[in-house]
Amino acid sequence: MPQNSIVSTEKICTHINSQSILKNVSISLGRGRVVGLVGPNGAGKTTVMKSILGLISVDSGSIFVEGQQVTPQHHSIIKQKVGALIEGPAIYPFLTGFEHLKMMTNDIGQIISFSDQLGLTKYLPKKVKGYSLGTKQKLGIVLALINDPDLVILDEPMNGLDPQSTRQLRNLIQKLSKNGTTFFISSHILSELEKIIDDVIVLDSGKVTLSTSLEKLYQESTRKLVIETSAGSVEINNEDFSQLNNELIRLIKQRVKINNIRYRPSDLEDSLLKYLDDHNQEEN
Ligand SMILES: Nc1ncnc2c1ncn2[C@@H]1O[C@H](COP(=O)(O)OP(=O)(O)O)[C@@H](O)[C@H]1O
Ligand SMILES: [Mg+2]
Repeated sequence: MPQNSIVSTEKICTHINSQSILKNVSISLGRGRVVGLVGPNGAGKTTVMKSILGLISVDSGSIFVEGQQVTPQHHSIIKQKVGALIEGPAIYPFLTGFEHLKMMTNDIGQIISFSDQLGLTKYLPKKVKGYSLGTKQKLGIVLALINDPDLVILDEPMNGLDPQSTRQLRNLIQKLSKNGTTFFISSHILSELEKIIDDVIVLDSGKVTLSTSLEKLYQESTRKLVIETSAGSVEINNEDFSQLNNELIRLIKQRVKINNIRYRPSDLEDSLLKYLDDHNQEEN
């Protein structure tokens, strides 16, 4: 296991019924990093997270958290150091939000502080059965954050959150990660994670297809040059000057008016697609 990583899995495989779900998944989460786990629905994101938490057993391979091996029988390290929200929080409908949090800690200051930052405070005295999906989700997130875990695992935490709440969550994650907390966050929507993650792991059909830092991803991706004309806009790869020349000649010949030429920075989705594309070409 790399020295600076808080979690690592080594070639974990698991199946449900007779279907293979995870296929040799080896990942490593750097300490203090915010790591995104992205992939389409059914890719195995929740299964990876459950395995790391010792909630399900794996057929082969091993999982280490803080250097200690985790299995469904041995997971005391998880209780001590890890907070998690998996597939919506486990909640008691007839207890209030506050009563849920009070079961986890006596530190009322911490309860109020996290609840304030996510806009949950006014719902705390109310019974959870009346909560909206988003409010339940916020309660689950606060439950995961309480007691200063070293690692926080959040499975699709933005589910049900409105844009303002998503921003509040982003700010809170950024603040905690600056103080050294490691985050492992899944989403099937790339753009949701783009603003908060340092590293990205892509999972597809139970296999890791990419694991890299965003910094590297952006370095390798090309920006686009956008030519806006009276007849619509044309996109050109940043460094493709022959394409640029041909396009300009064509536009001028047709007497199309050029209104603007600008760079469009690539977003995470562009970069990922390009990376995967290049990668496949190398393999073929
Ligand atoms: N309890 C279960 N019973 C049967 N199949 C399951 C169960 N849980 C997960 N699966 C299957 O495992 C695969 C991965 O699921 P999951 O880890 O939930 O993916 P993700 O979180 O990326 O959407 C999917 O094909 C899903 O149908
Ligand atoms: Mg899932």
